[in-house]
Amino acid sequence: MAFRSMSLPRSILVVGSGGREHAIVKALLRSPAKARIVCAPGNAGISKDVECAAVAADNVAGLVALVKKERIEFVVVGPEVPLSLGLVDELEKAGIPAYGPKADGALLEASKIFTKQILLKYGIPTAPAGFFSEVAPALEYLRTRKIPIVVKADGLAAGKGVVVAQTLEEAETAVREMLEGGKFGSSGKQILIEDCLYGEETSILVIVSGTDYLILPTSQDHKRAGDGDTGPNTGGMGTYSPAEVVTPELFQVIDKEIVLPSVEAIANEGIDFRGTLFVGIMLTPEGPQVLEYNTRFGDPETQVVLPRVENDLLELLWAAAKGTLKGHELRVSADHTLCVVIAAKGYPDAYGKGDLIEFPAQFPPGTDVIHAGTALDKEGRVVTAGGRVLGVTGRAGTLKEAAAKAYSLCGDIRCASKYYRNDIGAKQLNRR
Ligand code: AMP
Ligand code: GLY
Repeated sequence: MAFRSMSLPRSILVVGSGGREHAIVKALLRSPAKARIVCAPGNAGISKDVECAAVAADNVAGLVALVKKERIEFVVVGPEVPLSLGLVDELEKAGIPAYGPKADGALLEASKIFTKQILLKYGIPTAPAGFFSEVAPALEYLRTRKIPIVVKADGLAAGKGVVVAQTLEEAETAVREMLEGGKFGSSGKQILIEDCLYGEETSILVIVSGTDYLILPTSQDHKRAGDGDTGPNTGGMGTYSPAEVVTPELFQVIDKEIVLPSVEAIANEGIDFRGTLFVGIMLTPEGPQVLEYNTRFGDPETQVVLPRVENDLLELLWAAAKGTLKGHELRVSADHTLCVVIAAKGYPDAYGKGDLIEFPAQFPPGTDVIHAGTALDKEGRVVTAGGRVLGVTGRAGTLKEAAAKAYSLCGDIRCASKYYRNDIGAKQLNRR
């Protein structure tokens, strides 16, 4: 063990400003290596934990310059946008190791059509789909499929480019809005029309280094804005881990039929993937099927997954980046973790910013507050600055206790524009 930690980087840049990045920073702070951590651009909570640099996550040239100026030895990239802009490619040119795929690997998230083609080519379980850039053939195809049906913008749309249409009319509107109306801009110039899958979803986060990989603890997200899975899709309103719907047997099936063939397919396509492959899975009665790949940690999955990982996260991410992941074994806590996202009223549509957030003087044991869309105002007070504002987490021996802890703290955080779902974890709790 000692020889490994000796070679760990002494200075790390974490790129991003959301809850995911705050959770990554907190996990890296637990590393015995005690590396210096800088975050760009960070948020109010991150700035209380580590140094922040005011360079935006999509400013590739600015980030490379920051890395050189601050003598950063390792970069961990949080969000998808810098990955698809080629940040890791540029860092590689500058000789800086990074955790996160290069632009070719990031395309697995940035193009749903590219991913679907790979899934179909390698026989990885997924829903059948058609690809369109013109309205007329798309509408014709719709009439040949069963309703509900799913219409997806090909490109990045911050988790909002997917419409699960309950009627033919709704599907037709989505097609027209994306292809003609310019909804989602260039991301919606091409679309997929995909058969609807039914079941429970799970998020499988995998640390990948070429064909070596480690599957992180399971989790389940809550994508809809409202209780009981109602309202529009969001980036994610809350999570818990483990997702017990993934039984040990099902976990083996997911590994053998989805994760392993995915990792091999990606390598076979000539992509040297070193980063997180996040597989969104629907657990259908016919077996697990891939909904999507993301090429980064999930948000808010990371907030519940990383606290259960007992390994030194820095060691794992560094090994993945350097191609030495083989032989590492994951140690996972038996605790249950749950995260409730506090959002600003209006999210995922328009919402206000600049509302004061007041916290209780102390957070009870087994709870934590992870910052997402927060900033400091002129007086240094924490205010809202984004749609998803905070992730309030609970940790305990049972999911029920973890939920009770998180919800109790949610009630004690004051903010005029706050809203959150009241049923995070309910599906698993009610199943028992
Ligand atoms: P995606 O970004 O492709 O994961 O889609 C976002 C969300 O839309 C997923 O988490 C699902 O809740 C839903 N979704 C996507 N594809 C399908 C599908 N084929 N059937 C049912 N729901 C879907
Ligand atoms: N929570 C889903 C995502 O990170 O895309």
